[in-house]
Amino acid sequence: MSNNRELLYSMKILSFMILVICIVVPSLRICVADDSINVLQSMSDGERLVSKGGNFELGFFSPGSSQKRYVGIWYKNIPTQTVVWVANGANPINDSSGILTLNTTGNLVLTQNGSIVWYTNNSHKQAQNPVVELLDSGNLVIRNDGESNPEAYLWQSFDYPSHALLPGMKFGRDLRTGLERRYTAWKSPEDPSPGDVYGVLKPYNYPEFYMMKGEKKLLRQGPWNGLYFSGFPDLQNNTIFGINFVSNKDEIYYTFSLVKSSVVTINVINQTGRTYRYVWVEGDQNWRIYISQPKDFCDTYGLCGAYGSCMISQTQVCQCLKGFSPKSPQAWASSDWTQGCVRNNPLSCHGEDKDGFVKFEGFKVPDSTHTWVDESIGLEECRVKCLSNCSCMAYTNSDIRGEGSGCVMWFGDLIDMKQLQTGGQDLYIRMPASELEHKKNTKTIVASTVAAIGGVLLLLSTYFICRIRRNNAEKDKTEKDGVNLTTFDFSSISYATNHFSENNKLGQGGFGSVYKGILLDGQEIAVKRLSETSRQGLNEFQNEVKLIAKLQHRNLVKLLGCSIQKDEKLLIYELMPNRSLDHFIFDSTRRTLLDWVKRFEIIDGIARGLLYLHQDSRLKIIHRDLKTSNVLLDSNMNPKISDFGMARTFGLDQDEANTNRIMGTYGYMPPEYAVHGFFSVKSDVFSFGVIVLEIISGRKIRGFCDPYHNLNLLGHVGVNKSNLYA
Ligand SMILES: *[C@@H]1O[C@H](CO)[C@@H](O)[C@H](O)[C@H]1NC(C)=O
Ligand SMILES: *[C@@H]1O[C@H](CO)[C@@H](O)[C@H](O)[C@H]1NC(C)=O
Ligand SMILES: *[C@@H]1O[C@H](CO)[C@@H](O)[C@H](O)[C@H]1NC(C)=O
Ligand SMILES: *[C@@H]1O[C@H](CO)[C@@H](O)[C@H](O)[C@H]1NC(C)=O
Repeated sequence: MSNNRELLYSMKILSFMILVICIVVPSLRICVADDSINVLQSMSDGERLVSKGGNFELGFFSPGSSQKRYVGIWYKNIPTQTVVWVANGANPINDSSGILTLNTTGNLVLTQNGSIVWYTNNSHKQAQNPVVELLDSGNLVIRNDGESNPEAYLWQSFDYPSHALLPGMKFGRDLRTGLERRYTAWKSPEDPSPGDVYGVLKPYNYPEFYMMKGEKKLLRQGPWNGLYFSGFPDLQNNTIFGINFVSNKDEIYYTFSLVKSSVVTINVINQTGRTYRYVWVEGDQNWRIYISQPKDFCDTYGLCGAYGSCMISQTQVCQCLKGFSPKSPQAWASSDWTQGCVRNNPLSCHGEDKDGFVKFEGFKVPDSTHTWVDESIGLEECRVKCLSNCSCMAYTNSDIRGEGSGCVMWFGDLIDMKQLQTGGQDLYIRMPASELEHKKNTKTIVASTVAAIGGVLLLLSTYFICRIRRNNAEKDKTEKDGVNLTTFDFSSISYATNHFSENNKLGQGGFGSVYKGILLDGQEIAVKRLSETSRQGLNEFQNEVKLIAKLQHRNLVKLLGCSIQKDEKLLIYELMPNRSLDHFIFDSTRRTLLDWVKRFEIIDGIARGLLYLHQDSRLKIIHRDLKTSNVLLDSNMNPKISDFGMARTFGLDQDEANTNRIMGTYGYMPPEYAVHGFFSVKSDVFSFGVIVLEIISGRKIRGFCDPYHNLNLLGHVGVNKSNLYA
């Protein structure tokens, strides 16, 4: 009895003590692991701090199979632990005895058994009632209670990036305080101590971001030209992130922001000398690489040496600029380009013959270490200035927005230039008069020739210009003709299809391959990537896009958009999960899934789609390549006609046309088209008939062989029909 009473008494004392402790020592409020309390006085291993909106979590972790303990920040809702920041990367704790404390002068101190492992050193600002808060952006901040101005934070983790850049993080330099925000690769996935590969802003007159390995430059973004980093024009207007570059007397930095706040993306630098931009794909529950740099071999810093330019599509990627030759022809021939190129003719500078400039287009501008910028003058003044200084080797606009503005000049040898496939800038490179003379001479010859025949041509050209103008006017009209089509950027589609991986390939057609993809919003798509060698040229491509964008019918496949980037032409369709009709009717097992009712419905659907094309849509369209592999099936086995690459529009009053380019698939073509090139709605009806036969018989038009008459399916049916009437 008395024992019981004693127990009750001690329990009462205990709960009273807990109450007192919890009131007196506020830090105990975060005893609970995933509490969202954001004020912290001290935290031990096992406890966590969660940002208000629940995006990020701060706590102790061990990377990979390592046993060591680190304080870090990771995404709370992403199951594969993704650490975006680490405090004591270089000074791990070897057990779980670490304690993180905020002391009264506003510094976080990480201790193990009383000795300091890591600490923040805020010595500039006065702390008054400091608090620690993990923000939903992933930024860990120390601020005075009530202070919300970011500029007044006592300390913030965003100023000391680890290996990852998060949206909103400034990457660059504060010129007032000298604070340099760089990001540094982890030594290995198991070891978050800083490796020797890092990304950094070099605050040259024309500032640039570099990836470095120790003191060695690995890769250069190219300076910001108002629209993009000179070497990566394809990152502008991408669908994942926006780039914001700021350069003024106080600071130079770059931040990125999310286009859609729901899309999680980070930029991670890796000890292998690569950066990866990952995007979290909810459907996959996985990070996918959206972009990785270096993008190609030509991004290797200084690969082609001085006055060499790199072009990835060439077999010898390095070429000397026009007017230059390899310094060492032997080395150059054996693909050692590092010695670069030298001028064929020397510059004279102030000599008798004045130097001049040659314009190079589509360039990543050279390394900007020795540059000079004047934003207040334009291109012409820039040229004059550059000409007057013998060591000025090139110039261009410092900002290429609009007409272009500002002036940047390069001194000394020009290195690390790249001839870009798409985009790129103009660069004016100094050349001796002799190199220019040559050009002038050709120009003069051309000019005089033109002058000689000019009189005759003038009359003719006026006539042609008028015709072209009229054609253009018509073209504009059709293009504006109510087509509401999304243009996707190439990189987002490349990303959606896992960079057109073999695993995503759905099939291969005459015009290229079709890939399955998932857009970031989860929508499944089929991407038709037209091969460069495909017969479908730009015309046919635009034809298909324009045609199908105008068509809306449940028995026609829906085009979601397209993407054109130089030689890459992509069509993006809704994904048809059951693929195409030939997949079913010619396969002995899958065929059994199609009973007669279903087959009738499919035939009926194709007929409806076709009727819409021929009659009911605003245009009269002949498909010209109707066949079972061009009839796709949705999840309910509803047929949808696809592949309008060869379709032709007809005037509504036009019934027949002729072509001298027979396209389509033999077997499905009516004889008058195959032989004479005549086509009309009847051609499609013929093909439809063939499809009906195939659906009913389960035989291929071309694979069938009638044992008695040596006829194909069509002939066989015809023969039997004539037997019937006989
Ligand atoms: C807080 O920690 C910092 C860093 O260790 C130290 O410089 C400072 O003296 C500490 N302040 C107090 C009051 O202990
Ligand atoms: C903690 O530090 C004290 C004094 O420095 C030392 O005697 C003790 O062995 C340490 N304990 C552990 C577990 O390292
Ligand atoms: C570097 O990237 C490779 C490939 O993505 C990855 O396996 C490796 O873990 C990364 N290394 C680091 C240190 O992050
Ligand atoms: C040419 O420009 C460089 C770099 O700005 C400068 O150091 C040099 O003095 C200039 N030379 C002349 C002759 O102006």
